[in-house]
Amino acid sequence: MVKVLENISLKPYNTFGIDQSTKYFTEVHSEQELLELLQNQQWKTVPKLILGGGSNMLLCNDFEGMVIKIALKGLQATISGSEVLVKASAGEVWHDFVLHCVRNGWSGIENLSLIPGCVGAAPIQNIGAYGVEVKDVITEVRALNIKTLSVKSFSNADCMFGYRESVFKSTYKDQFIVLSVTFKLSTEVKINSSYGAIGDVLKAKNISSPSIKDISDAVIEIRSSKLPDPKEIGNAGSFFKNPEIDTHLYEKIKTSYPEIPSYPTGTNLVKIPAGWLIEKAGWKGKTLGSYGVHKNQALVLVNYGGAKGKEIKQLASDIQADVFAKFGVVLHNEVNYIESQSI
Ligand code: FAD
Ligand code: EPU
Repeated sequence: MVKVLENISLKPYNTFGIDQSTKYFTEVHSEQELLELLQNQQWKTVPKLILGGGSNMLLCNDFEGMVIKIALKGLQATISGSEVLVKASAGEVWHDFVLHCVRNGWSGIENLSLIPGCVGAAPIQNIGAYGVEVKDVITEVRALNIKTLSVKSFSNADCMFGYRESVFKSTYKDQFIVLSVTFKLSTEVKINSSYGAIGDVLKAKNISSPSIKDISDAVIEIRSSKLPDPKEIGNAGSFFKNPEIDTHLYEKIKTSYPEIPSYPTGTNLVKIPAGWLIEKAGWKGKTLGSYGVHKNQALVLVNYGGAKGKEIKQLASDIQADVFAKFGVVLHNEVNYIESQSI
């Protein structure tokens, strides 16, 4: 029987460091425990929030339900020729998992080093960084349907991955709990150093034929220099997605700002960095008491200590309104707002 705690603070469980509480809190360590909990009549009608590392959420209120921290652990690797299929349980810490793969010489996710959170959340928003998205290596997501309590296996195509998107954020939002993810990695090293900054670090270190450990180290170095460490300053990484805008709007902005950076999308849309728009709108480094916009990365909203989720939500909304007024560009949240009810 799992232990259910009452009225506890979620501050240690979210990287923003927001001090909201939950009526009930529990941690499940096995699929069996999770099933027993969800079958229990006492908890059936109680709203639920599924929690990994709490690194992509903003708690806007106290949670009037049950937070279920997914602590399922375990790794299983099957090697055939150069192909390595690794099944990782949802509660494994993402970065520890990446380091485990790097140590074993299994290539594919080294560019995703140092992303906070757990394996189970990786497919939810299709985590990505430094030229790689996790969709590139996922072969299967096993997930529990919260209503029927049956386990469904999603293929890569079933997940309908997009930029910071998946079926778990759209059609099946709040309907499935990810139990495990299987990744297709390789003992044949395929280096991806296409992202400019990685090449710069390797060059500075005089590394001409990098190993996957070199790539992982370079990514860790770049990330540590750019992004605030949640242990020091509360944050949830990029607060907004980088917007994809139509070429007319892009050309219009370019007339006033010829230097605007852009990335190709393979469609007739142009992706532009939200951080650039927010900086140009004058928000970078702005501090409003205990919270604000990070001084080195305008896409990261920060809690210096004691901020309320609602205050950060208001700041985000003010930034969105201002960027729209100045550039005609709509910024969409990447961070998930947790109001009072989830599942
Ligand atoms: P949580 O915040 O706990 O949950 C996120 C959402 O997924 C919630 O809606 C939750 O209910 C749901 N969820 C969590 N686990 C499960 C599960 N097992 N089953 C079903 N639903 C679940 N993201 C990137 O893509 N790229 C980056 O480079 C990046 N850099 C970051 C840097 C910093 C400093 C920080 C703080 C965050 C960064 N992020 C980045 C965002 C974040 O790390 C990822 O989104 C991560 O995958 C979230 O994992 P988590 O376990 O903390 O999820
Ligand atoms: N920029 C500015 N001002 C800023 C910040 C950025 O002008 O204050 C411009 C610069 O031109 C810079 C460009 O934006 O060259 C891109 O910045 P950066 O390389 O820091 O990346 P990003 O677009 O801000 C994205 C992801 C990150 C991911 C990095 C590296 C999104 C929403 N964010 O950030 O993911 O780590 O690229 O690949 O796509 C996250 O999702 O939480 C996250 C941190």
